[in-house]
Amino acid sequence: MGAKLCPKIILEGTRLTRKTDIAFALDEHPRVVGPRKYRYHSPLVSAEWCAFTNFPWGRGLINYAPEEEAQARETYATWARLFELQPYYSWIVDRFHLSTRAFHIQAGRPDPDFAWLEARLVPLGFRHVLCVRRPDTFAAARAERLKVSGNPGQYDDLTPFVREQELLRRLVRASALPHLELDISDLDADAAADRIADWLEATGGLSAPWGVTPAPAPPPADAGAPPLVVPDTFVTARLVAARPRVDDAAAVFAAYAHDATVTRHLSWRTHERVDTVSQYLHGAVDAWARGTGHRAWLLRRRDTGALVGSIGLTQHGPRVEFGYVLARAHWRQGLATEALTWLVDWALAQPGIARAGAVCDVDNPASARVMEKVGMAREGVLRRWMVAPNIGPEPRDCLVYAKIRGA
Ligand SMILES: CC(C)(COP(=O)(O)OP(=O)(O)OC[C@H]1O[C@@H](n2cnc3c(N)ncnc32)[C@H](O)[C@@H]1OP(=O)(O)O)[C@@H](O)C(=O)NCCC(=O)NCCS
Repeated sequence: MGAKLCPKIILEGTRLTRKTDIAFALDEHPRVVGPRKYRYHSPLVSAEWCAFTNFPWGRGLINYAPEEEAQARETYATWARLFELQPYYSWIVDRFHLSTRAFHIQAGRPDPDFAWLEARLVPLGFRHVLCVRRPDTFAAARAERLKVSGNPGQYDDLTPFVREQELLRRLVRASALPHLELDISDLDADAAADRIADWLEATGGLSAPWGVTPAPAPPPADAGAPPLVVPDTFVTARLVAARPRVDDAAAVFAAYAHDATVTRHLSWRTHERVDTVSQYLHGAVDAWARGTGHRAWLLRRRDTGALVGSIGLTQHGPRVEFGYVLARAHWRQGLATEALTWLVDWALAQPGIARAGAVCDVDNPASARVMEKVGMAREGVLRRWMVAPNIGPEPRDCLVYAKIRGA
């Protein structure tokens, strides 16, 4: 038996590049999905669905409002999860995260970080097909479209399409996914689908030689409290906290992750290279995208912008646990206390959260003092609780502190 056909194609391109028709043509193409005796549909997914609003031509995964970013991230993470859970199927996607980036860049908003998403799409075998047309052919394409468009006003000015096409070209080229740039100016949808099939055949993109790994286990459901909706950023008197990005790796490495004095009592090994920090940050970004696990912020000085350290939290049902680390240059200025105070107050104000706590190595008096200063009470010693790999393989005793709601 031949290898199963399960290509994964993300069509990108500006409007007027026939992507919808090409998606349908691919979805029935005998070389892409196999010969069929009768018609059936395989998944066509689109980030263009305006599913965030209850009115036509509203907002969705591409043009979400700033306050809908968490919803968009969770939707992308959920799509990624569905792809991971069903890796041996053909998935044809009509615009995805690069269109989102293009939209937000053009709107003058921050460029959303999708490195975490690409890190999940690449092992599944996803590829980009960028549909482009020669700028001089947009006008003719518009004339065709106006016969059927429900929103003709969007085609009045063609310059934005040409500009967006250039931007998408740049984003596709910089993406971690393999890509084909296809000039559809002189092609109909069937001919375009043929070209895509040729490319997939020639480059091994039709079946799954890439050895898809099993989907990771779903996060355990937390009993007893609703999942926290954790703020992306917060600000204290001297600090601003923001979600990490993978491209913060070099700064994190230089500020504290390489420093054996800083990491001595921590649960992770001192980093020797920037790329292991990048790997860690991929996971950290992913936790934010999934809305579960340890959510970490990077802390920067408001006055100088200097990277000070990191603080994070994990929810376990009704309790929240914190971790924090600061670059040595910023120790003993009350900064850890300042950040943790904000988070403890915030956590204990959330519905269902009864306890905010942390643990530290018995030989880490600075951390114990921080917990005391934020109003946590010392509850005892957790014997042989945690391995500090920079000290040795034996689990070590830890002090446990917590502040209780209302106490
Ligand atoms: C623990 C850590 C985050 C504290 O950060 P910080 O910003 O210096 O903390 P603060 O300035 O808010 O408070 C530190 C307190 O500990 C005290 N302290 C510092 N070193 C100490 C030591 N060796 N022995 C006793 N007390 C000490 C400080 O005097 C201060 O208390 P005070 O205000 O009563 O004088 C920082 O030292 C660090 O990053 N350490 C390495 C990573 C780590 O251990 N993280 C915690 C893991 S549980």
